[in-house]
Amino acid sequence: ELKTVYVTRPDVASVGIELLKTESNVSSWSEPLPVPRDELLRQVVGKNAIYCALTDKIDAEVIERAGPQLKCIATISVGYEHIDIAECKKRGIRVGYTPDVLTDATAELTVALLLATSRRLFEANKEVYNGGWKSWAPNWMCGQGLKGTRVGLFGFGRIGQEIAARIVSFKPSLLTYTARSEHVAEAAKVNAQRVRFDEMLCKSDFIIVCCALTPETKEVFNASAFEKMKPNAIFINTARGGVVDQPALCAALKERRILGAGLDVTTPEPLPLDEPLLKLDNVVILPHIGSADVNTRTEMSRITALNILAALKGEKMIAEVSV
Ligand code: GLV
Ligand code: GLV
Repeated sequence: ELKTVYVTRPDVASVGIELLKTESNVSSWSEPLPVPRDELLRQVVGKNAIYCALTDKIDAEVIERAGPQLKCIATISVGYEHIDIAECKKRGIRVGYTPDVLTDATAELTVALLLATSRRLFEANKEVYNGGWKSWAPNWMCGQGLKGTRVGLFGFGRIGQEIAARIVSFKPSLLTYTARSEHVAEAAKVNAQRVRFDEMLCKSDFIIVCCALTPETKEVFNASAFEKMKPNAIFINTARGGVVDQPALCAALKERRILGAGLDVTTPEPLPLDEPLLKLDNVVILPHIGSADVNTRTEMSRITALNILAALKGEKMIAEVSV
């Protein structure tokens, strides 16, 4: 009897789906937009595993609807806050995710946002098309650059460390991080200094969010946090929109209490076109593409499938959330 797997998203080049098909019975949502909730609730019934993405809310209702034969949920993402982990634990359901393979891609995208905001790339690019480019000028489109600036990382895990390694080559005056763990050896490698959150807020020229979204990090970047930042501070977020009180960020940017922001993640996603952030010229917004390079996404798809196949056989998964 083949095990059954429901896949909520059409797969990257079918890599994961083809792998799953070698050892299980696969059904899949095939439209480009996320599976509607009612369809998801119908399709998971009786399945042994669910292959999902961060666009699917896998809560107690979905898990309950699936039934007691559900053994594994694997997400094609490193973040897993869309899955009710406590419920999975209660029911002995194993949860797979895709850390490590997307670390470099996400660090690269973060550096892209740093450069884009520190050198005003998108503002400048627009001037080329709208006639604003009249002449080379000594004081035109000057940004603050990265060299000699103080950069703070909020979170110093896999991704934070790789961001730090890349930033070193831009010669900051000081790299700091705020994290629960000390990370002594990792910090020594990039000559980074652990500081308290308040100190990071008050002294950084760039603040980069690279933590997981958890109850502790939810909206830690609130009005009072933006209040403490320097007027030339640039805020970068490639983690999760939920870490930020977005209206507070928007107010700080609009009133020029901070210099700019670069965001790959927002609340909600996608942003509605009347979102106030979209009216500001000191913010660069990307549509959650941190891990979006072809090789990375292909690897993520493969690992998600392998996680499921391993769990269905009771074997060690490539990457399992410790529940
Ligand atoms: C992307 O945001 C991920 O969690 O993989
Ligand atoms: C700029 O193009 C320069 O030559 O300084």
